[in-house]
Amino acid sequence: FVHQLADESVGMGELLTSPLRLAPEPSLPLPMAVYGPGRPNSRGLDLTVESMRAPLLAALATTTLPAVPEFDAKLASSAVATGVVSYQKWSKVAVAERAAVLRRAADALEQQMPRFCALLVKEAFKTWGDAVSEVREAADFLRYYAGEAERIMAPVALPGPTGETNELRLSARGVWVCISPWNFPLAIFMGQVAAALSTGNAVLAKPAEQTPGVAWEAVKLMHAAGVPEGALQLLHGPGETVGAALVAAPGVAGVVFTGSTQVAKIINRALAAKDGPIVPLIAETGGINAMLVDSTALPEQVVDAVVQSAFRSAGQRCSALRLLCVHEGIADGVIEMIQGAAQELVLGNPAELTTDVGPVIDREAFDNIQKHLQRLASTSKVLAAQKERASSATQSIAAMPNSVPPSAFEVRSLADVKDEIFGPVLQIVRWGSGALGTPEAVIAQINALGYGLTLGLQTRIDSRAQALAAGAHVGNIYVNRNMIGAVVGVQPFGGEGLSGTGPKAGGPHYLYRFCAEQTLTVNT
Ligand code: SER
Repeated sequence: FVHQLADESVGMGELLTSPLRLAPEPSLPLPMAVYGPGRPNSRGLDLTVESMRAPLLAALATTTLPAVPEFDAKLASSAVATGVVSYQKWSKVAVAERAAVLRRAADALEQQMPRFCALLVKEAFKTWGDAVSEVREAADFLRYYAGEAERIMAPVALPGPTGETNELRLSARGVWVCISPWNFPLAIFMGQVAAALSTGNAVLAKPAEQTPGVAWEAVKLMHAAGVPEGALQLLHGPGETVGAALVAAPGVAGVVFTGSTQVAKIINRALAAKDGPIVPLIAETGGINAMLVDSTALPEQVVDAVVQSAFRSAGQRCSALRLLCVHEGIADGVIEMIQGAAQELVLGNPAELTTDVGPVIDREAFDNIQKHLQRLASTSKVLAAQKERASSATQSIAAMPNSVPPSAFEVRSLADVKDEIFGPVLQIVRWGSGALGTPEAVIAQINALGYGLTLGLQTRIDSRAQALAAGAHVGNIYVNRNMIGAVVGVQPFGGEGLSGTGPKAGGPHYLYRFCAEQTLTVNT
């Protein structure tokens, strides 16, 4: 152990300043709901897979996906016009009343959790665990932005000279286009919509074309909770036609987008080319997210964090781990343990409670991952290739198209890591000598990739964790734990550079971007 530290040039004075911690255990009460078995949410509900097993399975048998009509892109301008009329009324509703509507929607969502979970399993191939987490996150967004809107939209008196009053007021901007992704078809959809609505804007919601059913049911729930129909319109269709027409339509006050960097840039260019006002864009995109492991890290903790972060949700999270940078002194052991742990994952039908990894979203995603796998196989050593294993005898793996077994590949340098692979594929690089001689050099190369979403650090040297975090150009850093599943109001989420514009979703600065600011100075 001391020998490994010497390899890393770490002073002994810095050794083991961080105690052993196997799993993070947040102390209650937290500002927002943090759920877990035996840990009810802020309203006393125990909404976990374990406690809801029977209703979840019953919902699966009875829930069908709705047929969602496609929107005619030629009608984009009239949708904006409807939104403008509704915005003029909705923005004048007292913020407390708008907040009450969102809180009612959150309550309804939790009451209907089994049905929404079943929709997520059927349409987005979520595992039950991921589905339950997603419904809870959507409810968190609704309640969090309700409270945030009440907080920030109260007028603020500012100090000024005698004989003058100064006040800063926020108001809605108008009609927002909300373009959401298929990987969180409820939580991110609801988050965008709730942010815009809570601040008094109207919404044209364009869900991912793979997951319109979840969005349709979510919009019905919002309308039933009291959101006026004109203030929230669902416009389903392809991004290239419907999304593009909405972005280009005159009168749109803002666009919020979660998806690929490439599409964010297309939207940005389209907005820049428009006549009229400058239209703000909030973009949250992808990342080549790395985890740096030094030789003081606890291997069991590393392996658990790696498997969760790289393979859970079939790697289809923008926060997911893509690149593991492990110190050469412990790399062999850690890699062997990852291989063993990956082999234990149950790949199969997400409708079964025992499934850990479901299929990827569609054939296009599957083909894209296969292209990367072929490239990696020809250049790198395969470290783990999960044998296809059905979650039960009755569910054959062949019945589940687009399953991608979790796998890991060793690459020689970060120069070989070019694209975000949106699936359960991990790339591993060893550091400790040559161009990757120090953790600072590793972080510099990670920064140079240009993305900046999530970063994992595994070290028991607190001062090192602090210094590396300070030098990393990323939005969310997780030390000695997994790097997925940011909790609304607890871990504001979003990146920089190629990973997005900010502000962070689920954080205290998010709603400001949805608002116009007015300073009122009165000579008394
Ligand atoms: N917010 C999700 C997470 O933190 C990713 O979109 O995993």
